[in-house]
Amino acid sequence: MKMIYLDNGASTEVDPKVIRKMTPFFSEVCANPSSAHQMGSDAHRALEDARHVIAKSIGAKDEEIIFTSGGTESNNLAIKGLAFYQKESGTGKNHIITTKIEHSCVKTTCEWLKTQGFEVTWLDVDSEGFVDLDQLRGALRDETFLVTIIHGNNEIGTVQDLKAISEICHDKGVHLHTDACQSFTKVDVNVGKMGLDLVTLNSHKIHGPKGVGALYVRDGISLTPVSHGGNHEAGRRAGTENVSGIVGFAEAVKLASKSGHVKDMIKLRDYFIDQVLVAELGVKLNGPRDEGSGSKRLCNNMNLMFPVNGGMLGDYLNVSGICSSKGSACSSQEKGHVSHVLKAIGLTDDEAKNTIRFSLSRFSTKKEIEKATQILIKSIQKVANSRFA
Ligand SMILES: Cc1ncc(COP(=O)(O)O)c(C=O)c1O
Repeated sequence: MKMIYLDNGASTEVDPKVIRKMTPFFSEVCANPSSAHQMGSDAHRALEDARHVIAKSIGAKDEEIIFTSGGTESNNLAIKGLAFYQKESGTGKNHIITTKIEHSCVKTTCEWLKTQGFEVTWLDVDSEGFVDLDQLRGALRDETFLVTIIHGNNEIGTVQDLKAISEICHDKGVHLHTDACQSFTKVDVNVGKMGLDLVTLNSHKIHGPKGVGALYVRDGISLTPVSHGGNHEAGRRAGTENVSGIVGFAEAVKLASKSGHVKDMIKLRDYFIDQVLVAELGVKLNGPRDEGSGSKRLCNNMNLMFPVNGGMLGDYLNVSGICSSKGSACSSQEKGHVSHVLKAIGLTDDEAKNTIRFSLSRFSTKKEIEKATQILIKSIQKVANSRFA
């Protein structure tokens, strides 16, 4: 049975064109990009070409991009790097502001920094997942050095107004970091226009390879490195760069920017949501509706709360050939886990457990989505009629 893959928020298929670009860097150009010989300079050139592609895609300068092993590392480097710098240089600043709907790698980084003497304020969100800007204004203190807010939420798809957020932060001279792993290439991310100081990106959500990411750090912002070793990435991230992965990442960015895939995904997203809601089975959409637009909700995200046991429904879908997700892939396997994001938008534990995320990619087809909605509607009815439900 060919599975219908609707878990692209967790990871995507690597585009064959990306694989083709990467392949020579495993063998013919296997050199370390820091090596002084010819092959080393070929690898170095490929690295710098990729850096240029990624920098250009967000309106940054090449030297403002640090390559990392992915979104998790970029978020750790941004938040811990800035926090350690405050301590090291004695700025007297020790306060971070974040939200209750961050990805677990931001959430747990901030929780850990609390154990190291930093103070953290967790902003609430409304029932659609939007940050309360007045609460943000009120939370900023003289000691605040960082506001970190996710751009497109990985569970419910809410896209924050980062321009409005950055204006509030910059009024107080505070840096804004955003985790843009889910929004990158789906919503415009432009560091100048949006006033972003640090931005986390990764490759495997956009049909690039896993284990590669980048951190944008605005020129003039100092970070204390989190890992120590060689002088790679201008002394900000030690370790030989993953050249093949980075080349693949850049190719994925180029391909994503070329096609009109966002509009196509919006149509499929809204079709899927409409079909399920119109069946009048008591299904509710989590996150903003945002019909026909991708500005408030990610174009590929459908997060639905069901009036039946979500665990059983997910199992039915799985055996019927649909890959979906119980919340974020990083925590969905934890037993008894209740999503902190769904709790933050006001769902009860049971409602959160009965919620499933479906996520599209530019490879998703209308045929697949038609089939998936039919299977989903039948499965809801089956679970509702099951004596175990
Ligand atoms: C919003 C967000 N941030 C960070 C990550 C972690 O990225 P990576 O898997 O590249 O470490 C993910 C991926 O699950 C994500 O969705």
